[in-house]
Amino acid sequence: MTAHENVVQRISIVGTGYVGLSTAVCFASRGYDVIASTRNEDKVRIINAKRAPFHEPGLDEAVRTSIESGHLRAEIDRSEAVRQTEVTFLTVGTPEKADGTVDLRYVINASDDIGRALQLKNAYHLVVVKGTVTPGTVRGPIKAALEEASGLVAGRDFGLCMNPEFLRQGSAIRDTLHPDRVVIGEYDEQSGQRLADLLAGFYGPGIPLLRMSLESAEMVKYASNTFLAVKISYANEMANICERVPGVDVSEVMAGVGLDERINPRFLNAGAGFGGSCLPKDTKALCKFAEVQGYSAPLLRATLAVNQAQASHVAQLALATLGEPRDKKVALLGLAFKPDTDDVREAPSLIVARALLKVGAHVSAFDPVVKRISLPGFEGLEYPPSISECLAGAHCCIVLTEWEQFKQLTSDDFTQSMATPVVIDGRRIFDPHEFGSRLTFLAVGVGRG
Ligand code: UDX
Repeated sequence: MTAHENVVQRISIVGTGYVGLSTAVCFASRGYDVIASTRNEDKVRIINAKRAPFHEPGLDEAVRTSIESGHLRAEIDRSEAVRQTEVTFLTVGTPEKADGTVDLRYVINASDDIGRALQLKNAYHLVVVKGTVTPGTVRGPIKAALEEASGLVAGRDFGLCMNPEFLRQGSAIRDTLHPDRVVIGEYDEQSGQRLADLLAGFYGPGIPLLRMSLESAEMVKYASNTFLAVKISYANEMANICERVPGVDVSEVMAGVGLDERINPRFLNAGAGFGGSCLPKDTKALCKFAEVQGYSAPLLRATLAVNQAQASHVAQLALATLGEPRDKKVALLGLAFKPDTDDVREAPSLIVARALLKVGAHVSAFDPVVKRISLPGFEGLEYPPSISECLAGAHCCIVLTEWEQFKQLTSDDFTQSMATPVVIDGRRIFDPHEFGSRLTFLAVGVGRG
C-alpha cells in the first residue's frame, strides 16, 4: 500500500516521544510524507541525523531509513509542520499532576499552536488527538483551544478526532504497525470518515476499526490500561496467597487459569508489580476522574494498593534474609520498569532500592541499558559495569527486570561470587526447582514449605 492510493499523503506529528516518533516512522515506512515536530532542538538534530533520541528496539533503524527515503524530517516549528500537511496527530505528553489528575498544559499549548497554524492555512485540516486524556477533554478544552486560536469552527472548517494509542514500550514499532484494533472517536461524521480512510489505507485489511464518540474513545484507553493493571494486581494477589501455602507456585496456577479462553494467559505474570509511564498514571487518573463524577472506583484503588505493596513486599523478603542490613550488600538485577527500555518511570526498582538504602544497606544495581537513576534519593546507589561485579560479595540478589541476559544466568553464577547466595526472583524468570536446590531461593508467589 503506498501513500498515493490515499487522499492524505502529508502528515505532521506534534510530539516525538514513544507514540509520536513510532507513529512518524511507521507512516514514513509506508510511503507517507511525515514531518515530526518537537520543540526540543536536540531531538530535532538527533532525528535529522538519522538516530532515535531514546532507546527503543528497531527505532534507530526505522528513523534512519525514513530520513534516507526522504519521507521523514524533524522540524522545530509546529506551525510550519501543520501548514505543510493535511493531518496532524497530537502526541505530546499528558503527565500526571500531584493530585493524580492529567496535566493538560502541553496538549493545550500544542492545540493553541496548531490553531494558529490553521488560521494561516486556509484549507480543511484534520486534527487527531493521540494522547491519553479523560473523557470530555477533546470536546472541551482541546476543541476550545483550537477554535479560539484559529477563529475557525470544528467540524465545519477543520476535523477533530481522538485515536488512542495502545503501543507498548519495547515493541512500539511492531505494535504501531500491527495493532489488535483501531479506535476512532469522531467529533463529526466527516472527521471520522477522513481518519477511517487514512487508517484503513495505512493498516490494510484485517484490523478491526471501531468508530465511536470522542468520549467513548477517550474512555477506551483508560478502560484498557486499567484492565491490564487489574489483571496484574489480581495475579499478584494470587501470588501473595500462594506464598503462604506450601507446595503452591503461582506460575503453575496462572498457567491453569490462563488457558480458559475467557481469561487468556497474558498479563498474569506475578512479580514486583507494574511500572512505566502508563499503567500507574492512567489508573490513578481514572480513579480521580471517577471520584469527580461521584464514584469511588474501589476496584481501581485496590489495584493500585496491591501494586504499591508488591514492590515493598519484594524489599521485605530481602530484608528478612539480611538480618542487620548495615554492612550487607544487595545486588539489584534490572532497573528499567520492563525489558527493552531505558525507562525507569514508576519502576518497582525505585521502591525496592529506596527501601534498602533507607535502612543502610549497600545497594549495587546492574541494568543493560539504564546506566544510573538521576532522581533525588538514589545518590547512594552503585552501578558496577557487569552482572558479575554487581553480584560479587553480595548477601542477596533481587531480580527486578526480566531482561533476556538475566534469564541466561545459572545458579552457579550466583553461588560462585556472592557472599551468601540468596536470590529473590521478583520477575519469576528462574526455575524454582533448579535454583531452590542450589541456593536460598525465594520467588514471588512460591509457597515455602
Ligand atoms: C502499557 C500498555 O500495555 C499499552 O497498551 C499502553 O499503550 C501503554 O501502557 P507499557 O507501559 O509499555 O504499555 O508496558 P506493559 O507491557 O503493559 O507493562 C507494564 C508493566 O506491567 C511493566 O512494569 C511490566 O513488568 C508489568 N507486567 C506486565 C507485570 O508485572 N506482569 C504482567 O503479566 C505483565
